[in-house]
Amino acid sequence: MNENNHEIIANNIRVRRTSMLVDKTREVPRATIEELCELATWAPNHKRTWPWRFAVITGEAQLRFGNTVAEAMQSFGDEPTKVEKARIKYARTPALIVIGSIAGDSELQTAENRDSAAAAVQNFMLAATSRGLATYWGSCPKGANDPVAEFCGFESDTTVVCIMYLGWATTQVETPQRPTANIKFLDK
Ligand SMILES: Cc1cc2nc3c(=O)[nH]c(=O)nc-3n(C[C@H](O)[C@H](O)[C@H](O)COP(=O)(O)O)c2cc1C
Repeated sequence: MNENNHEIIANNIRVRRTSMLVDKTREVPRATIEELCELATWAPNHKRTWPWRFAVITGEAQLRFGNTVAEAMQSFGDEPTKVEKARIKYARTPALIVIGSIAGDSELQTAENRDSAAAAVQNFMLAATSRGLATYWGSCPKGANDPVAEFCGFESDTTVVCIMYLGWATTQVETPQRPTANIKFLDK
């Protein structure tokens, strides 16, 4: 890798921001999403369990998805205002990507699968940023994991790691300074 590529990658990492400022009318082509998912799978994973699962939710399915989440939140006893918001909020961007992590055959493997799926999410977001797409990592609401996994067609026991909003960015969100990395150099 030459120095120029190195700078491009570093700058791309520095401009990624959580954002939902997108063109709501412009679809994200399926081929682009497929490529982003493929790039996500270059994340490291322990024991080659290939733990990540992806579901792409667009169009009417976004409202169906929202209703599924809202029903789960209601059963869980969430506040009515949050429940009603959940019915519509997943349709705020042209696409929603759900990323899940399958269970392992031990607690440790399940935890490491999730670590790996989080790395896959970051790969996805960085690659999306470099294509002019905005991404926003949302958590799965409490009580909604299993209904969401089922909606997405994931294996049972899959952990929903990320519900990602995706769309073409309309605005570049300013990147604040990060705190200095907390590093300890130990050489003795
Ligand atoms: C595991 C994880 C879960 C997150 N869940 C949410 C969420 O539910 N809602 C939200 O607004 N942001 C969520 N975020 C995004 C963070 O709020 C965001 O990364 C943070 O504000 C820093 O902003 P930046 O990504 O632009 O640097 C999540 C991020 C991670 C890593």
